[in-house]
Amino acid sequence: MKITVNGKEQELDIAPDLPLLWVLRDHLQLTGTKYGCGKGLCGACTVHLDGAPVRSCQTPASAAAGGLVLTIEGLSSDASHPVQVAWQEHNVPQCGYCQSGQIMSAVALLERTPSPSDAEIDSAMAGNICRCGTYTRVRLAIRQAGAQAGESQA
Ligand code: FES
Ligand code: FES
Repeated sequence: MKITVNGKEQELDIAPDLPLLWVLRDHLQLTGTKYGCGKGLCGACTVHLDGAPVRSCQTPASAAAGGLVLTIEGLSSDASHPVQVAWQEHNVPQCGYCQSGQIMSAVALLERTPSPSDAEIDSAMAGNICRCGTYTRVRLAIRQAGAQAGESQA
């Protein structure tokens, strides 16, 4: 099957029910997307499929066939995406394990809601669990990235 990942079309000889997470990590060596719970509960495996955030551990490869997948590696080549910059400025990560999923959820939120309210941030990020408790810094970084997007549009 064909799946376009980070702008590059990939021809893959894989079982249709293989979770997208393992397509990315094992077949394409895109290991920035993490395996946490494997049950759709933690958000560590979040990527975008056709612009929407999905849990790649719960997404069969067949669902991504012909689609556009974006992973943390595809946001920018040099960590210059505005959300990545805000993350660096607020020193968001602790152990880092959950952070690519956090960032992918945040990017999806800001793409559909450039200046989210606190309630919108809480709602969009509720499925991303951080065992290190970085939630406060995650929200600060999202607010900053959202405010900068608003300024650049003004
Ligand atoms: S690993 Fe997919 S939601 Fe936890
Ligand atoms: S930074 Fe450690 S789990 Fe989130």
